[in-house]
Amino acid sequence: MPGVLPEGEPVPVDGSLPATALREVGARGFGVYVHVPFCASRCGYCDFNTYTAAELGGGATREEYAETVLAELRLAARVLGDAPPGRVETVFVGGGTPTLLPADDLARILDGIDRTWGLAADAEVTTEANPESVTPDSLKALRAAGYTRISLGMQSAAPGVLAVLDRRHSAGRATAAAREARDAGFDHVNLDLIYGTPGERPEDFARSLDEVVAAGVDHVSAYALIVEDGTRLAARMRRGELPYPDDDVAADRYLAAEAALGGAGFSWYEVSNWARTPAARCRHNLLYWTGGDWWGLGPGAHSHVGGVRWWNVKHPAAYAQRLAEGRSPGLAREVLTPDEAHMEDVMLRLRLASGLPLDALDPAGRAGAERALADGLLAPAEYAAGRAVLTLRGRLLADAVVRDLLP
Ligand SMILES: C[S@@+](CC[C@H](N)C(=O)[O-])C[C@H]1O[C@@H](n2cnc3c(N)ncnc32)[C@H](O)[C@@H]1O
Ligand code: SF4
Repeated sequence: MPGVLPEGEPVPVDGSLPATALREVGARGFGVYVHVPFCASRCGYCDFNTYTAAELGGGATREEYAETVLAELRLAARVLGDAPPGRVETVFVGGGTPTLLPADDLARILDGIDRTWGLAADAEVTTEANPESVTPDSLKALRAAGYTRISLGMQSAAPGVLAVLDRRHSAGRATAAAREARDAGFDHVNLDLIYGTPGERPEDFARSLDEVVAAGVDHVSAYALIVEDGTRLAARMRRGELPYPDDDVAADRYLAAEAALGGAGFSWYEVSNWARTPAARCRHNLLYWTGGDWWGLGPGAHSHVGGVRWWNVKHPAAYAQRLAEGRSPGLAREVLTPDEAHMEDVMLRLRLASGLPLDALDPAGRAGAERALADGLLAPAEYAAGRAVLTLRGRLLADAVVRDLLP
């Protein structure tokens, strides 16, 4: 069935949304994402929309960035004008390296969001940060500005692994920054790990997990290394300088993560995410995974409002230029067809510990779920209660299970 809008229709110059979208905005929660597209240097594995100062040249500077984002926020306020989304429940500032901006700029952006739509009293306000780009003072300033959660890219505790990943920080810096964040009064602190890097030994990852647990954080994300096309890491692998990641190794590492984190009192709530308590789960990511609405500010940022999804121009200079001309930075938009929306819902919800109601599946999907149950990939008790919830083995094979549940 075709969507209401053809795929990738241009966004109107003023960014306006169809009345149908405005009627629904915020029905399942509303959040704001802010993309900060700057990094001090590019890690060899990373293909995020981020630029070093040398790559940017002129046209978009860190100094002007907060003002440019605030200009998009004013446009967003006009677009949603007659249909306010309700209180902002979550804000997530991601990158890139948001903490390359002064804490004052991150404070101004948050203040702008609060003045525009109003932050809920218990809003979750996260910023990502690179360990070497924060200090006890900058963390205190962010906390005082209203940031409640910080997500630090640690990746590994092993110096050799950090070197292969081109990380700028020393092995101990990430956990030290996590402790500083707790001392600064952040409610929630996350550390990101990457496993399966070439040269990583089982004992390296075990040490990473031990150090994460010892740092006293309440959230851990652990991702298998993805070799992204066009990255320096992919080129090194193609040239034979580094071996490609091995699926069996990645599975062993995942089991090690579950054992160490589970043993330390963390529970998984999404395949790659563990939290110490339900309150420590990242509410912003849960909003993405459960069909909520969010406005994505910044170059390349994606938004989803009332069933319309759009994405901004990618380059910071083009983004700033459009806003300077009073035009929407939106590049294209689409409305998912019911089939596409169903596929996405199955894909995202099945990765959650809360799982997917079986009655959301069509007969073919239901037959796939029966097979997954028989193969030990879905939990029997939850299945009997009407939900598809992955077992530990199912989590290792989550993509295959999803394929089995979809047409
Ligand atoms: C958007 S990045 C930003 C975090 C921050 N700039 C940093 O690097 O510390 C968020 C996380 O995505 C993960 N990530 C990025 N590229 C990845 C890749 N190719 N494979 C696996 N994980 C990746 C890393 O764990 C990283 O911390
Ligand atoms: S610091 Fe983070 S966002 Fe920047 S290049 Fe490295 S992984 Fe990517």
